[in-house]
Amino acid sequence: MMDLIRRAAEDLLASKCAVALTGAGISVESGIPPFRGKGGIWERVDPMEFGHIDTFEKDPGKVWRVLIRDLKEIIDRAAPNDGHKGLARLEAMGLLASVITQNVDGLHQMAGSTDVLEFHGNCAWQRCMDCGGKKRTRDVDISSLPPVCACGGVLRPDWVFFGEEIPPAALQRSRQLAMRCDVMMVVGTSAMVHPAATMPVIARETGARIIEINPERTPLTGYVSDYLIRGGAGDVMNALVSELESMG
Ligand code: OAD
Repeated sequence: MMDLIRRAAEDLLASKCAVALTGAGISVESGIPPFRGKGGIWERVDPMEFGHIDTFEKDPGKVWRVLIRDLKEIIDRAAPNDGHKGLARLEAMGLLASVITQNVDGLHQMAGSTDVLEFHGNCAWQRCMDCGGKKRTRDVDISSLPPVCACGGVLRPDWVFFGEEIPPAALQRSRQLAMRCDVMMVVGTSAMVHPAATMPVIARETGARIIEINPERTPLTGYVSDYLIRGGAGDVMNALVSELESMG
């Protein structure tokens, strides 16, 4: 692994614009389960049912009870881990411009990353299905579900359900970053969900080096990524930051 850490450090030092694309895997060490794989959310909950906007529109109380409430409680307790902190440290060292994340937990911002694009929205805000008004999730009364707005409309998380569009501004900026960057670090994503998983493909096609960090292979491995550093995000980011610091 150390050879690849050294290679990643050299690639970052040589780059003019590096960005990261992150997924649920980077928050696993913060106690937030991933979606796919062992212990994943989609193992106990059918994504095409409970992750889909059509189900939410039909029965928001059910989706709140089965999916959103639990996830909100786990996210409320979570703190950034060494993976998030490592990316924030790379930004502080001037070696990482932006983080594009599929996560809705806000942990990158909490760790200190300042340019975070939330590709799938976030869990910090709720939006009224009727008036469109937004309320901080922590101020929402969830003693009866679904929670409602002062206008009586149902509140929904300000995240992207299956069947919904990616927020246009996040999509546009992510595409621009993917085209402009010369290094993309792809951390903790199964690369199964598009268009997020298309960003490394765009980056690769426009000449960027793609560094994957993941304990497992993904559909990008060996095709789109130049190399895979196999391991948990926390350990790998710690090793990478130490290597960069030792290189001065
Ligand atoms: P997934 O749950 O699909 O994939 C998690 C990835 O993290 C897998 O490739 C794991 O091998 C890897 N992983 C596990 N532990 C890790 C660790 N400690 N360090 C690093 N990597 C680790 O999550 P995403 O790819 O983010 O969308 O999923 C993409 C989208 O699918 C989500 O944003 C969500 C979901 O349905 C929506 O809700 C719209």
